[in-house]
Formats: sequence, C-alpha cells, structure tokens
Amino acid sequence: MDYHIPVLAEEVLDGLAIRPNGVYVDGTLGGGGHSEKILEKLNENGRCLGFDVDPDAIAFASKRLERFGDKFKIVNSNFSFLSEGLYRSGFKSADGILLDLGVSSRQLDNPEKGFSFRAEANLDLRLDPSLKLSAADVINTYSDDQLCKVIRDYGEEQFAWQITKELVKRRAQKPFVTTTELTTAIDAVIFPDKRKKSYARVFQALRIEVNRELEVLKTALAKSVSCLAPGGRLVVISYHSLEDRIVKDFLKYESLSCICPPQQPICQCGKVATVTLISRKPLVPSEEECERNPRSRSAKLRIAERK
Ligand SMILES: C[S@@+](CC[C@H](N)C(=O)[O-])C[C@H]1O[C@@H](n2cnc3c(N)ncnc32)[C@H](O)[C@@H]1O
Repeated sequence: MDYHIPVLAEEVLDGLAIRPNGVYVDGTLGGGGHSEKILEKLNENGRCLGFDVDPDAIAFASKRLERFGDKFKIVNSNFSFLSEGLYRSGFKSADGILLDLGVSSRQLDNPEKGFSFRAEANLDLRLDPSLKLSAADVINTYSDDQLCKVIRDYGEEQFAWQITKELVKRRAQKPFVTTTELTTAIDAVIFPDKRKKSYARVFQALRIEVNRELEVLKTALAKSVSCLAPGGRLVVISYHSLEDRIVKDFLKYESLSCICPPQQPICQCGKVATVTLISRKPLVPSEEECERNPRSRSAKLRIAERK
C-alpha cells in the first residue's frame, strides 16, 4: 500500500540540485517518499537525515529506507530543532533542506488521530503524541475569545464567532470528545452548502494551534538558512495560504540586500541578502499530478539558494 505519494517529486529533486556526496535534510520524513528519491541520487559519501515527530512515520520510513544503511539517519525531533539535530548527527552544514509541510495521507486516513472530519475519532490532532494539548483540550478549555481567534486566524473562517458561541454553549453541557461532536456543532450554525468548507477550516485551525505549526515553521526557516552551506538549497512545499505567506515573506526578506526606505539616497541599513530566490513564483503540480494524487492540489513549492 502507498503510504503517501510524494508531491512534486521531480521538482523537489531539481530544486535541491542534489550533489551526490552532499548532506541533505528531509525535515518532514513522513513515509520517506522524498527521502528515498534523494537517497537514490547520493553516492556512498552522501547523507540524508530525516526528521519527524510521528512514531508511526518513523517506523514506516525506517523500514522503507533500511537498504540505504548508513547513508540515511532518522532524527526523531521537531524540525524546529533542525540545526541542533544536524550538528548532533556530526554535520556542520547541509547542502539541501526540504520541508514538505503538513500531514501525510497516512495521518489523514488514521482514524485514531482525528485529522479528518470524514471519520469518527477522538479530537486529538497531535502529530507528536508527547505534546500536552489535544484539539479537545483547545475546544474545552480556551476562553471564547481565544477559541474564536484560533478559528478566525488559523482557519480563516468567516463564521468563527457563530461557531465559537455554539461550541461554548455545548461544552457547558458536555465536554467535546469526538470529531462528530464537533461537526454536529458546526452543522447547527452553518448552512448545509457551506458546511464542508467550515469543517475543513476549523480542523485546520485546531491542527495549527495544537502543533504550533506556524511558530515552528518560522523557527525552522530561520535555522535552515543559518545551517545551509553556500550554494545549498532550501525547498519548501506548503499546502495552505497561511504557511505559504510565511515562506514567501521570509524568503523575500532574506533575499533583500537593502531595506532602507526608497527615498533614502544611500543605504544605511546594513542588511545582507542571505539567499537568492530560484523561483519567484511558486511551482505547482501539473493537472496530471493533481488527477493522480488529488492531495497535491493545493501544493506550492518555493526554492531558494544560500549565498
Ligand atoms: C506531508 S508529510 C511528508 C511526506 C513525505 N515528504 C513523503 O514523501 O512521504 C509531513 C510529515 O511531516 C511531519 N511533520 C509535520 N510537522 C513537523 C514538525 N514540526 N517537525 C517534524 N516533523 C513534522 C508529519 O508528521 C508528517 O509525517
């Protein structure tokens, strides 16, 4: 069975511009699909480190990539500790770093995790099972203002306040436990034709909050640039606009060599560009890839090269 079909696989390999004896970091190992393709391009001196926080992903990818022996190493850690994991594994820098953000098909389809509103499951949504806060904790314990902010800011849901009021009313009767209890509460305040979109937005919001996804992404981007070797490549695939905006703004800022106001005749900011943008516009999957792998549909890939 396919664990997860790697998205934009050829574009990732081209973007990383693999050197056969280089050191590569796959910050989001998942089923190891991208790592496998990287490893196939490496010679006996090349290395690939795979980070993940999900023990199931780590177990699956370890088995899949067993045949590469010492060329592949697992780092059971959040990618926000990317530089620490790299140094601890004995490397001073990386020649390429890949972040394929979000969740894998396997995680989405795992009914125990509650990532999908389509299956009855506990409201968990933790990628890393050692995290303290679950999605049920967010719904049951946040103040109404905090909860509304999560749903509005991370789900970009226009009916955030109506949904929050319904959740707060229902949790006073009985704390939320399952995904179905959540979708039933949304049904009570959202018109039928808009429900699916609202489910998706609320689940996205809770996942981002529980896993602190935007915060760890910002940390990982900064660390990636600092531990790339000159000429090394950073490749990031995002799946929703909040992530892509963070990646786009970060890379744009890092590529600028001056941030003085335009009316200032001489540069005084001292800003140094750390990367060159390889693609100004994001790469997206072809129609054919979207058909073959519908979960790739929202993917946007950005590439930068360390100066
Ligand atoms: C979209 S999947 C990656 C799929 C992979 N590229 C492949 O080809 O199979 C994302 C993976 O990244 C992991 N992940 C998400 N956020 C993470 C983080 N902050 N640190 C480490 N792993 C993370 C998830 O657990 C998931 O396994």
